[in-house]
Amino acid sequence: TIYPSSHLSNFVARTVKPAFTPLATRSFSSTQPNMVKVLAILYSGGQVAQDEPRLLGTTENKLGLEKLLKEQGHEFVVTDDKEGPNSKMAKEIVDADVVITTPFHPGYLSREVIATAKNLKLCITAGVGSDHVDLNAANERQITVAEVSGSNVVSVAEHVIMTILVLVRNYNVGHEQIVLGKDGGWKVSAIARDAYDLEGKVVGTIGAGRIGYRVLQRLVPFNCKELLYFDYQDLPGDAAKQVNARRVADLKDFLSQCDVVTVNCPLHEGTRDLINADTIKSMKKGAWLVNTARGAICNAEAVKAAVESGHLLGYGGDVWNHQPAPKDHPWRSMKNAHEGGNAMVPHYSGTTLDAQKRYADGTVEILQNWLNGKPQTQANLIVEKGDYATKAYGQRK
Ligand code: NAI
Repeated sequence: TIYPSSHLSNFVARTVKPAFTPLATRSFSSTQPNMVKVLAILYSGGQVAQDEPRLLGTTENKLGLEKLLKEQGHEFVVTDDKEGPNSKMAKEIVDADVVITTPFHPGYLSREVIATAKNLKLCITAGVGSDHVDLNAANERQITVAEVSGSNVVSVAEHVIMTILVLVRNYNVGHEQIVLGKDGGWKVSAIARDAYDLEGKVVGTIGAGRIGYRVLQRLVPFNCKELLYFDYQDLPGDAAKQVNARRVADLKDFLSQCDVVTVNCPLHEGTRDLINADTIKSMKKGAWLVNTARGAICNAEAVKAAVESGHLLGYGGDVWNHQPAPKDHPWRSMKNAHEGGNAMVPHYSGTTLDAQKRYADGTVEILQNWLNGKPQTQANLIVEKGDYATKAYGQRK
């Protein structure tokens, strides 16, 4: 189940569209009926992936799909080479029926790329978050976009709690003193000057869906002063009551009340650059910002400026506006005035070994459903039959 307790079951079903595309109505690229070409864009794990077969989301271990697809006679191409018109992805996508990618090393399916993919019918996100596909362009072409909803939401929620604590307690400054400090680094005051308790702080989530809600649940035992959420959808039933969370309808009003803001909404037209130079002004001086949703929800330069000026005491997360992040990305080097305030890591919160098993299994299920003409699990559908099948990607008519 997607949500923890059964009486929250209506929280799962925020989708409305029927999901069935009969096999007979499909046309395939291959001359042999029912044979398809599947292209997977995954990250390369190198020797590590050969040593650790549970690293399923890698080009080496191929989400566990190779045997299955080969046995069924389908063509299966896997690559990590995804940038630009000469990449393997650009060359292989032109006749692919299905594209699978993970958000950790996303194959970016822009409108232009989709236009070259003449046979494309299904995009599967092995994980959660399908913003790497231009969803409006997919709709125009009646391409289905599905993801493995819920597969890594606990993994991310745990990472959010960790990142909040790393920032609020100024952990990195202490850790760097110990491992990098010359002459036996040990300056407690230099750490403690920016170290606080989470207890008594106001924490708010932008987006209170599967991850946002799990973050709120995990914050309850910390005795925060208040838990807030900003979302155009109300938490269902008595979910808000269970975590004692209050909804704030206006973004700036919400930001002005939070000591810690955690971002847990999808990236879409309404959330791109949501946290920018203007909205940061509404945040409390010395607040912390955690973003494990998508990098482009926060303006990179505005965040760096706010951390360096001290308006934000710190920023952390694992998502970047382009992945892999370029060497000179401002979030790699930014620090606050006291050499702290940066809790960035590569995008990995949702790709723990536990999560990889779940999203690999879910990918197989989505693919098998499609190949066999069976309906998809409604909660996995992002766009289908030319329209949004979820309410999570912005308020639409
Ligand atoms: P969900 O669909 O359960 O919840 C998303 C919530 O965000 C919904 O309640 C929706 O109404 C809300 N929302 C949408 N637009 C909003 C806006 N403009 N303002 C406020 N709220 C808004 O999705 P879930 O499973 O919680 O995942 C959320 C996002 O987290 C994913 O779309 C993905 O981008 C990111 N993610 C990151 C991972 C990582 O490894 N760092 C792994 C999994 C997800």
